[in-house]
Amino acid sequence: MKRLLWLLLATVLVAGLLLPGCSGDSGKIRVATDATWPPFEYVDTTTGEIVGFDVDLFNAIAEEAGLEVEWINVEWDPLLAGVAQGTYDAAISSITIKEERKADMDFSDPYYIAGQIIVAKTDSAITGADDLVGKSVGVQSGTTGDDEVSAMNGVNVTGYDEIGMAFVALMNNQVDAVVCDTPVASGYVKKYDTLKTVGEVLTTEEYGIAMPKGSDELMGKINQALAEVKSKGIIDQLVEKWLVD
Ligand code: ARG
Repeated sequence: MKRLLWLLLATVLVAGLLLPGCSGDSGKIRVATDATWPPFEYVDTTTGEIVGFDVDLFNAIAEEAGLEVEWINVEWDPLLAGVAQGTYDAAISSITIKEERKADMDFSDPYYIAGQIIVAKTDSAITGADDLVGKSVGVQSGTTGDDEVSAMNGVNVTGYDEIGMAFVALMNNQVDAVVCDTPVASGYVKKYDTLKTVGEVLTTEEYGIAMPKGSDELMGKINQALAEVKSKGIIDQLVEKWLVD
C-alpha cells in the first residue's frame, strides 16, 4: 500500500514537471496572418503556402531570434481579436500601428510605411477623395482603409471580408472605387490593366508586429531581431523582391 502511494506521488510529481512543458514550451510561437493581402501575405495558389513580404520578414526575424514559427492563416477580424485575447503569440499582417489598437495589443517597432490610396477603373472620372461623395467605395472591413472612407461625408462604404472581393466588385461596377494600402493597390493595378490608382496617398501609416498586451519578453526579442534584420539590409531586399517591378 505504501509503495503504491509513493508510486502515485512520484507519478503526480513527474507529470507536474512535464505537463507545463507540453503546452507552448515546444519553442514554437503561434504567428497569425490574414493571407488575403498580396504582396504582403497571400496564399500561393500553386503551392498552397502562405507567402509574401511579411512572411519572409517574420521568418528572418525568427531566425535571428532563434524562434520557431507555426503559421496560422486567419481572417482579419478574428486575427485582431485573437491577438487581443492572447490566442496567438504574434501577428504580422500589414497591421497599422494605431493608437486605438494599442488599448488591446502591443506593437513592435515599425517595419514599413504605407498609406491609403484610391483605386478606380481606368475609364473612371474620379480624380481624388472629393469625387467619392455620392459614390460607393469598397474596403476590407475593419481596416484603416475602412476607417478612412467611413470618416468621409456622403460616401457609401461597402465592407468586404477580403480586399479581393472589393476588387471583384469594382471590376463588376458594383462599387465605384476601392480604398486600401498602397502596396496592395499597386499590385492590383499592375495585375489588371482596367484599374488605376487616383489622387494623392491619403494617409501615412506604419506597419508593426502585434502581440498580446504584456508580451514583454517576446517583444524584446522581436524588436532586437528586427533591428538586426534592418541593419543587415534585409528589408531593402524584401522591398526589391516583393514590391519593386
Ligand atoms: N494596414 C491596414 C490596417 O491595419 C490593413 C491591413 C490588412 N491586412 C490584411 N492582411 N488583410 O488596417
